[in-house]
Amino acid sequence: MTLAIIGGTGLTQIDELIITGEERVTTPFGEPSAPYLMGELNGQKLVFLARHGNPHRIPPHKINYRANIWGLKQLGVSEIIGVAAVGGIGAEMAPAHIAIPDQLIDYSYGREHTFFADDLEHVTHIDFTEPYSPPLRKRIIQAAQQAQIKISATGTYGCTQGPRLETVAEIKRMAQDGCDLVGMTGMPEAALARELGLAYANISVVANWAAGIVDGEITMEEIEKNLDVGMSRAIALLKATVLFAES
Ligand code: HPA
Repeated sequence: MTLAIIGGTGLTQIDELIITGEERVTTPFGEPSAPYLMGELNGQKLVFLARHGNPHRIPPHKINYRANIWGLKQLGVSEIIGVAAVGGIGAEMAPAHIAIPDQLIDYSYGREHTFFADDLEHVTHIDFTEPYSPPLRKRIIQAAQQAQIKISATGTYGCTQGPRLETVAEIKRMAQDGCDLVGMTGMPEAALARELGLAYANISVVANWAAGIVDGEITMEEIEKNLDVGMSRAIALLKATVLFAES
């Protein structure tokens, strides 16, 4: 099993990752966001990719999700943990909190969202009943319990188009739809991984209360401050997860 971590906003690099090499992969879909870093976290080999590039410069709707996932498959990766900054909608989802979503709703549009579009021998539909890999989620959740890192073990992630944040009415609608979290990068990443047969799970780190959940505007200062705390928790969780052997 080769594990990859895709780091999002607030996780362009992992300081604790011992980098042993760098791979540039060319794909039929264009360039991945950055070179893939081969390294070791807590003594375990893994691949790291900065989703928004390094430096952080590619907005959510411009990310070449297909190239990113295709490149990981080329490198022999079989499991992916995508880390993502999100807004909190559900009552538990306070700033700096971590959730391991078990469901998603896709509100994004106009993104290259499938490998199954051209030159097909037959039309292909993937099963997406459980959009996140149940065994990989279980490992992350059990690692969190063992390391005593507080998380929400379920949640519905709503993926918006961005790069703007949402209106109060949009968040009200998402809450009515059952969304607990709102982010901009969860899709099509999860579906593309499934199309290539890669296990995929998401660690959502809450950067702010979503629009209208509390009074006032959402500021970049608040997002950055909360992500400092939340991402160090996410790194602790990743370190615990790579060591965690299923019992
Ligand atoms: N909405 C969408 N994506 C986000 C948010 C938000 O409030 N915060 C961080 N990523």
